[in-house]
Amino acid sequence: MVAKLYLSLGIVILSWGLVSYFTSPKLSNYKSDHFNVELSILSDRNTPDDVKQILRRACMDCHSYETRLPWYGYVFPVNYYLKDHIQDGLEDLNLSEWKNFSHKKKATIAYNITEELEAKTMPPKSYLFLHSDAEISQKDFETIEDWYFTLEKIYEKSYK
Ligand code: HEC
Repeated sequence: MVAKLYLSLGIVILSWGLVSYFTSPKLSNYKSDHFNVELSILSDRNTPDDVKQILRRACMDCHSYETRLPWYGYVFPVNYYLKDHIQDGLEDLNLSEWKNFSHKKKATIAYNITEELEAKTMPPKSYLFLHSDAEISQKDFETIEDWYFTLEKIYEKSYK
């Protein structure tokens, strides 16, 4: 009787593991073949370190190929939900391709980021619930806004 119970439990856990494995984001978009560390904003020497830290901490789990997932991010159905979310975030903004962008695009992105932070629409509330360290302070906001002003000036000088 007990042996049968353990066997059933074992089968359930094993199946769950397999489903999780095959549906995990790791196996598709995240750390994808397109990922080239050289192009990432984190490798860009022109981006100030404090800006990089804010983006890494609060945005890049969804807006880059450099997603860091918690352990339960690999477990079905959480993985399935995250995969969709990361895919959507990535389509709008991919900070892992930063160095490919023109001055114009960089300035536009920094502007959009500043807007999102001002409106407090990013990072999403559901993300903040589990990542309190992604909270954006007034100081963070000012850092990002200054960064936007700098990029805007660079663009105005070059018009590229
Ligand atoms: C949990 C995942 C997640 C995190 C973390 C996250 N985003 Fe997003 N972001 C999304 C998704 C999904 C979309 C697209 C759907 C939408 O607009 O709501 C998006 C869209 C955007 C857009 C484009 C909006 C538009 O109108 O085109 C910007 C800019 C943006 N995010 C900036 C940020 C910034 C800045 C941070 C960090 C402070 C951040 N996001 C953190 C998921 C995320």
